[in-house]
Amino acid sequence: MKPASLALAVLLGVTATVVAADNHSHHAAPEDRRAVLELSEPERAMVLEEMRLFLSGVEKITDALARDDMAAVAAEARQMGVKMTHDVPPALRGKLPQAFRQLGFTVHREFDALALDAENKKDPRHSLKQLSGALQKCVSCHASYQIRPQPLAAGH
Ligand code: HEC
Repeated sequence: MKPASLALAVLLGVTATVVAADNHSHHAAPEDRRAVLELSEPERAMVLEEMRLFLSGVEKITDALARDDMAAVAAEARQMGVKMTHDVPPALRGKLPQAFRQLGFTVHREFDALALDAENKKDPRHSLKQLSGALQKCVSCHASYQIRPQPLAAGH
């Protein structure tokens, strides 16, 4: 065996071992270590609905960017701006950790900036870069938090 292929064989062996160990510890007994948001069932539904609006907005923005339709990019991005946070009930707001709210607010602000720049600069590449920046925040929040719905109080 040539040194290079030996190195590859060793590497593959190590990878196989790591994958096997990973299968054992993760897939057999999945463990979600993300911080838990304890919300009521309706609060959870509300947050997840906003999330699905986020995803569908991202889909519409990418579609508009592919068509070079900067007016549509601006209109879609504006829907996802800070104004989206105005209907969050105070009780729910109070249950969300400060860092979570801050990250959420930053994402909304970035969509407002994306809307403004799409109108003024009309540069799809710039908009795409802004979208990527916002998506990084979706990713990092999802890596940090999960929602565990709390059972309804007795009598419901
Ligand atoms: C501040 C935190 C935060 C940000 C920012 C965030 N999310 Fe979420 N998202 C969550 C949490 C928490 C959940 C529930 C995850 C869980 O319980 O496993 C979620 C769930 C979702 C879901 C699943 C919805 C369902 O019906 O189950 C989608 C889709 C989603 N997010 C899309 C996005 C997109 C797209 C963005 C960025 C534009 C985004 N999210 C930004 C916190 C966030």
